[in-house]
Amino acid sequence: MRDTPQLLFKNRRPGETVFMAGYRASGGYEALEKAFRQMSPAELRELVKASALRGRGGAGFPTGVKWTFFPADKPGPKYLVCNCDEMEPGTYKDGELLMADPHQLVEGMIVSAYALQTDVGYIFIRYAYEKQAENLRRAIAEARDAGYIGKDILGSGFDFELHVHGSAGRYILGEETALLNGLEGQRPNPRLKPPFPAVKGLFGRPTTVNNVETIANIPHIINGGAVWFKDLALTADGSGTKLFGLSGHLNRTECFELPVGIPLREVVETYGQGVWQGRKFKACLPGGASTPYLTPEHLDVALDFSTLEAVGSRFGTAGVTVFDDRTCMVAATLNLIRFFARESCGWCTPCRDGLSMVRWLLETIEGGRGRPEHLAMLKEQFHNISGTSFCALAEGAMGPLSGLLTHFEQEIVDHIEKGGCPFRS
Ligand SMILES: Cc1cc2nc3c(=O)[nH]c(=O)nc-3n(C[C@H](O)[C@H](O)[C@H](O)COP(=O)(O)O)c2cc1C
Ligand code: SF4
Repeated sequence: MRDTPQLLFKNRRPGETVFMAGYRASGGYEALEKAFRQMSPAELRELVKASALRGRGGAGFPTGVKWTFFPADKPGPKYLVCNCDEMEPGTYKDGELLMADPHQLVEGMIVSAYALQTDVGYIFIRYAYEKQAENLRRAIAEARDAGYIGKDILGSGFDFELHVHGSAGRYILGEETALLNGLEGQRPNPRLKPPFPAVKGLFGRPTTVNNVETIANIPHIINGGAVWFKDLALTADGSGTKLFGLSGHLNRTECFELPVGIPLREVVETYGQGVWQGRKFKACLPGGASTPYLTPEHLDVALDFSTLEAVGSRFGTAGVTVFDDRTCMVAATLNLIRFFARESCGWCTPCRDGLSMVRWLLETIEGGRGRPEHLAMLKEQFHNISGTSFCALAEGAMGPLSGLLTHFEQEIVDHIEKGGCPFRS
């Protein structure tokens, strides 16, 4: 096992949650005190930019750059929204973080709000995360008692309120503009961009939406500095550590904090303790359900944003789901497409009708009724949907389909030729 500095999981103990006393004992709220007493909002924004932190919600956009689009100096209400919707299959890291140490997010929200000069923050949380929401409410109350939330925080003249808001339990609510509609009490269809939320977001006001893990990293960057944070990664492209949520056919399925840029083989063999039941590694989703499959030839690639893009996949949320050599990749992909088709909000045709069509094609092929033209139809649907949908849900659904067509086309052909699934006995 690697001796990775534990930032986000520093206080993690099985079955326990750390609240104010324990959090303070491990250096909690020192970053907030430093930020409010020694740093200007502009200096904080510069620090985050220099750290090269990239958003941990899936798209990996540089956080400091995103913050430069935000009109921090403009007067009037502005909002910071934390995205904890986390409904994508294979991704559970934010929930783990909030089970272990909710004050990190609370401290991160307060200092980020100060950096962006936002008045109000919302943590938008998955409906099933009842315990995590309870942890957050308790941590917020403790932070308020300590004088970190409310009026004139630490005599800075800065006021900030922080609320926890439950999600309605649909995947689309994690898309940042659908989330804003949901927070406003509207139907959660995504919004047309531009205008981007930084210009016109929640209640028509400037808004930044960031992921839980992204925000939780901010206090650590203030404590350790931008260079230290960047150097935690193993590859020049990366920065920081990352929460890797392991699942699927591994001997050990847990969430680990590991350096960005760690090789896939190490994640599978050391942390996942190898493929279960002595079987072989066949494929994995490296970053949640919307990322194209990697195969054994990719076991030595570094898990970071640009390396994975170079090999045709994506880092996403670093939810690593492994499939063993007895897995039918048609069935695995069908399972994921069923999720995406069910969660389509129905707003645009490529997603609403295209994903239903892909689902039907894969069900037909997997069920042994496939004909040779169905492979061509699958490819046609892939091209029809890619790059044409209103938001990134349908594009994400094309991740595993693209992996299936690139690496496992022969399995589709075998299903069609044999008139059934070759993996079923
Ligand atoms: C369908 C869909 C679901 C998403 N779900 C989440 C989610 O649960 N959590 C999250 O942080 N980002 C999610 N995202 C990405 C957000 O739209 C947004 O990019 C992210 O919250 C920005 O935070 P970051 O810059 O800190 O990564 C989702 C995107 C799409 C298209
Ligand atoms: S891509 Fe899907 S989820 Fe996104 S707007 Fe279109 S129908 Fe809705």
